[in-house]
Amino acid sequence: MTDGGSSIPAVQALLRVLATGRDVAEFGTAFGEGTAAIAETARSVVTVELDPQRVAIARDRLAGLENVEAIEGDAYELLRGRGPFGLVFVDGGVYDWERILELLEPGGLLVKDDLTPGRAVEGDPVREFLLRDRRLAAVEILTTPQSAAIVALRRS
Ligand SMILES: C[S@@+](CC[C@H](N)C(=O)[O-])C[C@H]1O[C@@H](n2cnc3c(N)ncnc32)[C@H](O)[C@@H]1O
Repeated sequence: MTDGGSSIPAVQALLRVLATGRDVAEFGTAFGEGTAAIAETARSVVTVELDPQRVAIARDRLAGLENVEAIEGDAYELLRGRGPFGLVFVDGGVYDWERILELLEPGGLLVKDDLTPGRAVEGDPVREFLLRDRRLAAVEILTTPQSAAIVALRRS
């Protein structure tokens, strides 16, 4: 379950801007690097990580940040019924988009990174949902020449 490393600097810079003044949820804390970037500008951050060893490292990394709550467990279970959030950073798990959408306030933002650029929308469940669902307005952007992210806004 300990897959995936820390988010790259370009994604952290994007999150820093998009999180400004918002209540944020993060699926997959890993070592807390993305969380720390979000916490610089967010009103609050709740971040959830399945792997206990990663949770311990992240809690050290995030110690003293009063707007951060770092929880151990399954983000889908532990975030259910919380929020609504102004930004959800979906960075771990199986991508149950309906459950993720329930957490977002109208006008709220969703970020999905770690995409390979240049792939077709058809046949790609992540892109099909985020770029085609009528409840969202979304754009795919390059974060490096070899990586992309989608930023989606919940319309209502
Ligand atoms: C790409 S890393 C996260 C990077 C981190 N968000 C950052 O910005 O540095 C993905 C993490 O998601 C965790 N993960 C996978 N499924 C999860 C779930 N259902 N709930 C919580 N964490 C999960 C993995 O253990 C892994 O540490």
